[in-house]
Amino acid sequence: MFSLQLFPANPKPTFLNTSFKPLLNPQALKCPKPYPKSKHTLISSVLQWNRKPELAGETPRVVVITSGKGGVGKTTTTANVGLSLARLGFSVVAIDADVGLRNLDLLLGLENRVNYTVVEVLNGDCRLDQALVRDKRWSNFQLLCISKPRSKLPIGFGGKALVWLVDALKAREEGSPDFILIDCPAGIDAGFITAITPANEAVLVTTPDITSLRDADRVTGLLECDGIRDIKMIVNRVRTDMIKGEDMMSVLDVQEMLGLALLGVIPEDSEVIRSTNRGYPLVLNKPPTLAGLAFEQAAWRLVEQDSMKAVMVEEPKKGGFFSFFGG
Ligand SMILES: Nc1ncnc2c1ncn2[C@@H]1O[C@H](COP(=O)(O)OP(=O)(O)OP(=O)(O)O)[C@@H](O)[C@H]1O
Ligand SMILES: [Mg+2]
Repeated sequence: MFSLQLFPANPKPTFLNTSFKPLLNPQALKCPKPYPKSKHTLISSVLQWNRKPELAGETPRVVVITSGKGGVGKTTTTANVGLSLARLGFSVVAIDADVGLRNLDLLLGLENRVNYTVVEVLNGDCRLDQALVRDKRWSNFQLLCISKPRSKLPIGFGGKALVWLVDALKAREEGSPDFILIDCPAGIDAGFITAITPANEAVLVTTPDITSLRDADRVTGLLECDGIRDIKMIVNRVRTDMIKGEDMMSVLDVQEMLGLALLGVIPEDSEVIRSTNRGYPLVLNKPPTLAGLAFEQAAWRLVEQDSMKAVMVEEPKKGGFFSFFGG
């Protein structure tokens, strides 16, 4: 039979080569209370293998989540990876840089609590901390929206304004966040350029279809031109039944085409749509779904600046090889 094998690029004695094994033990997932505020305590006691991920790189890690093509899962990734990072004990600020078409607040169920946006901060109508919306479930996760829905990008708002914003987040009294995630708008126009300007790493979300891949390839070039060298990809909406029937490109094919390090593989999961509509990110579901676990594993790799490898898996009955979930 087929087995789902997701190997880390640099094998370590961790959960990573156990394929979709939950990061957290079942007891931890049942825990109704968030981790305590102090981020370096108690986390290890609830994680498998009795360790928590080691934060690599300089903080704050400013990561843009981008794609080129629209509707491939950037906002879903920002919400789920962001909350996974918060559950792992890291402080996170997620910036919705999709001006006019923002929806990260909806996915997080925080839409009724956004009273101020960055535009008001820049106009001097409110303080930065008034525009930051703290998640009640995980107090170390905060949302920041650039503007009100259906508004246009204000004249003069660009990359420099976002760099100022990131600097202001670093200089806050309560301390700099560990992660600043920027949910990028689709396309490669002004909104995209603005969103990538303060980032020093990128997560490129793609689906295994040719239109998404072409756009992802173009975006990779633009990110590199902007000096962002640390680019990892998440392959979203993967369907193993279609890969088996050779109706969908495998993750291995995608990786060969884009030549990027693989941060995660997320299966197509109807629970994603359900959780989107409920404003309750998938990673908070109990019991966790496959897609939720895959997002958690991607968050873990992001923390450690690790990646996984797509592999070939033998299909014994037919005696051949095919590429499945990257394997
Ligand atoms: N793994 C998945 N399985 C099933 N549905 C998914 C999956 N990932 C995302 N979706 C659905 O795809 C749709 C688009 O997702 P999302 O809004 O995250 O994309 P986006 O890239 O942010 O879009 P935009 O470019 O418009 O900002 C949503 O309805 C979401 O629920
Ligand atoms: Mg979006």
